[in-house]
Amino acid sequence: MKHYIDFHRDVSFEDLDYLLDTAIDLKAKTKAGIEHHLLKGKTLAMIFTKSSTRTRVSFEVGMYQLGGMALFLSNNDIQIGRGETIYDTANVLSGMVDGIMIRTFKHQDVQDLADYGRIPVINGLTDDQHPTQVLADLLTIKEHKGALKGLKMAYLGDGNNMANSLLHACAKAGMDISVASPKAYTCPDKYVLEAQEDAKVTGSKIVMTEDPFEAAEGADVIYTDTWTSMGQEAEKAQRVEIFKNYQVNSKLMGVAQKDAIFMHCLPAYRGYEVTEDVIDGPQSVVFDEAENRLHAHKAILVNCFLN
Ligand code: CP
Ligand code: NVA
Repeated sequence: MKHYIDFHRDVSFEDLDYLLDTAIDLKAKTKAGIEHHLLKGKTLAMIFTKSSTRTRVSFEVGMYQLGGMALFLSNNDIQIGRGETIYDTANVLSGMVDGIMIRTFKHQDVQDLADYGRIPVINGLTDDQHPTQVLADLLTIKEHKGALKGLKMAYLGDGNNMANSLLHACAKAGMDISVASPKAYTCPDKYVLEAQEDAKVTGSKIVMTEDPFEAAEGADVIYTDTWTSMGQEAEKAQRVEIFKNYQVNSKLMGVAQKDAIFMHCLPAYRGYEVTEDVIDGPQSVVFDEAENRLHAHKAILVNCFLN
């Protein structure tokens, strides 16, 4: 059974090729209006204990376009929110649906759902990782740059779930990645070591630094994310102070390649992690990136359900 929980562990080099090819194929079919009911009659339960626009809509629409259906289950409405265990939830859902997508706080809860259940589990974001986003990101980079291998990404700001998954994704795809964060907010060693493991195979270069300009120098892709992730709202004022030198603005874009693209998983906070002129400017590909969640997620669903 194929889960999609941890990009480093669950996406092999062959899987990555398959997922990108499938996403490109399904995107073309969608644009051409060609029916592709590969998951006819299949059902996906989507558990959300955090907010979402893109992840919810893309998985729900994706299942529909693939001929199946998705159920949106907010923790305000399902019994998990009242203390029903992951064990019981996993067993109950395994008897009724074909797969589960979950967005929640603790990464271990997602793993538990997979371990206790009998159906594929997809990680729609945890405090530690955001593996579905990075597949859409690789697809977007490939579309804009033609290839992935040998390109350089610079990630600026919080060493959060996005940064951890981008380390996994870039190393797997053979892209160099430089992550610039304040020392106390850098990515946990685990993710750097896992990325280095794949980098040995693909030849990508992993650099962790505190200097945003060093990271951005010569980059083909500049990436940032909110400084205050879901669950950290009480720290917002303090975080704005801590990350202020990591803002992506025209000065920072100026040290990247001339044809560098700007990426952000969204939601974005203009004037904080990125200035308006950059995110709404000609180098920004954030809405292509958001649309590609749909196409990438359809590839993930097909891979989990059919392979
Ligand atoms: N990028 C992303 O995961 O967006 P949502 O929080 O809207 O799902
Ligand atoms: N790091 C952000 C990503 C949102 C898609 C968060 O966890 O809130």
